[in-house]
Amino acid sequence: RKGNATKEQIRLHNLVQQLPRAIIIGVRKGGTRALLEMLNLHPAVVKASQEIHFFDNDQNYARGIDWYRGKMPFSFPHQITIEKSPAYFITEEVPERIFKMNSSIKLLIIVREPTTRAVSDYTQVLEGKERKNKTYHKFEKLAIDTNTCEVNTKYKAVRTSIYTKHLERWLKYFPVEQFHIVDGDRLITDPLPELQLVERFLNLPSRISQYNLYFNATRGFYCLRFNIVFNKCLAGSKGRIHPDVDPSVVTKLQKFFHPFNQKFYQITGRTFNWP
Ligand code: A3P
Repeated sequence: RKGNATKEQIRLHNLVQQLPRAIIIGVRKGGTRALLEMLNLHPAVVKASQEIHFFDNDQNYARGIDWYRGKMPFSFPHQITIEKSPAYFITEEVPERIFKMNSSIKLLIIVREPTTRAVSDYTQVLEGKERKNKTYHKFEKLAIDTNTCEVNTKYKAVRTSIYTKHLERWLKYFPVEQFHIVDGDRLITDPLPELQLVERFLNLPSRISQYNLYFNATRGFYCLRFNIVFNKCLAGSKGRIHPDVDPSVVTKLQKFFHPFNQKFYQITGRTFNWP
């Protein structure tokens, strides 16, 4: 089982804290946690457990790169460190900042069908409000402008799902070859092929196998098997039940996202069967 290294282990094995060589930059609710945990099954991958929010948070960024490195787990020199902070994808300043750290870093983006992602995003915010006993608008009210009856592009959950707009900002700094797009919908239903594509992108030997992933019917998701004694599923907050959304609103959103999706396929060379 991988865990925190003790001082003795650090000394004995020459463990080091390394800057990430790959970052999962987003997208929020795409399956970023599942992707990170599943990649961590690979013996050559070490994950930063927490979202570090170094590049999107000005206060953290001002602490400097050594602060960032200090947040990284101890690892063997041959291993690669990966962190995930989904806010990176949508935050204006981040591409330039990451470029300044390492212009050849590998960037992973996990996406889901944009309307589903928006509803998932809404569901997370709704849950937060309910926890504080606050009421919240219905999804339909937020996603559709009541005056114009058009899609409300000011609503953050809508804007985040316009993947191409965000990606285009990143492409001012990094060539498209430095990005790998993960299909978050397939990561839910059939994770292994998606993970194998990532292994190849990271130039890692294929090590994650069917043995490491098992479907847990109670959870309704794949869970992780690290070895004979250590299994784990993601936290219960991953895989929330989404509220029903008025089908006409769903259709309106799908039509709205369609041209942006086409552009996203064209740029990335990866096509999805989104409506
Ligand atoms: P839902 O809550 O909409 O179902 P993120 O980690 O980026 O916040 O993404 C959360 C999403 O990861 C969940 O969205 C869930 O569907 C998805 N997911 C993918 N694989 C999963 C897994 N093995 N276990 C739990 N959730 C998983």
